[in-house]
Amino acid sequence: MAEFSEVLKNRRSVRTFTDEPVAEKDLHAVLEAIQWSPSWANTQCWEVVVVKDDKIKEQLAETLPKGNPAKKGMAAAPVVLAVAGRKNEAGYYKGAVTTKLGDWYMFDLGICAQSMWLRAKDLGLGTVVVGLFDHDAASRILGVPENMQLVFLAPLGHPAKEPKAPERKKIQEFTRTDRF
Ligand SMILES: Cc1cc2nc3c(=O)[nH]c(=O)nc-3n(C[C@H](O)[C@H](O)[C@H](O)COP(=O)(O)O)c2cc1C
Repeated sequence: MAEFSEVLKNRRSVRTFTDEPVAEKDLHAVLEAIQWSPSWANTQCWEVVVVKDDKIKEQLAETLPKGNPAKKGMAAAPVVLAVAGRKNEAGYYKGAVTTKLGDWYMFDLGICAQSMWLRAKDLGLGTVVVGLFDHDAASRILGVPENMQLVFLAPLGHPAKEPKAPERKKIQEFTRTDRF
């Protein structure tokens, strides 16, 4: 296992994969990272489809626009995780919305995405969260039920190369003291 600070800083978006399969114990560990993610009132509204079927991966890849740099990797990765959120649960109490921000499923899925991403890195695997695709087409392919919204796809495998880190803003650029 790697140092946490290393995993945090060196996690990258991996879009090219070797042919090596993902070991079942590693896949389990990645799913466990999702399992232990925090969520609104512990609602755990995430639902994950583990896609291993080559045909389905290819069909999912077709839902990404041509310019999406993750398109090839979606079909080539040994596993794709398709993550959906159950609607009207996170941020709700007894069926009623509790904050002006409405449904918090995107927030909870964002956290679970980061947990999954960091654990993959920790295991020497690579992944990328893919949000730019035709969500309706991919939902039809996967048979996503009406009460759920498919949010992201994540091809998962052994990195074929270590991508360079895109630049980050300086901390001072997004931080203020006391007030805006
Ligand atoms: C919500 C979200 C959606 C993303 N969608 C895509 C995508 O559709 N295709 C892609 O290649 N990368 C996608 N990315 C990856 C980002 O481009 C990447 O995280 C960013 O450029 C920073 O690079 P790094 O992850 O290597 O640090 C997405 C990332 C996030 C968090």
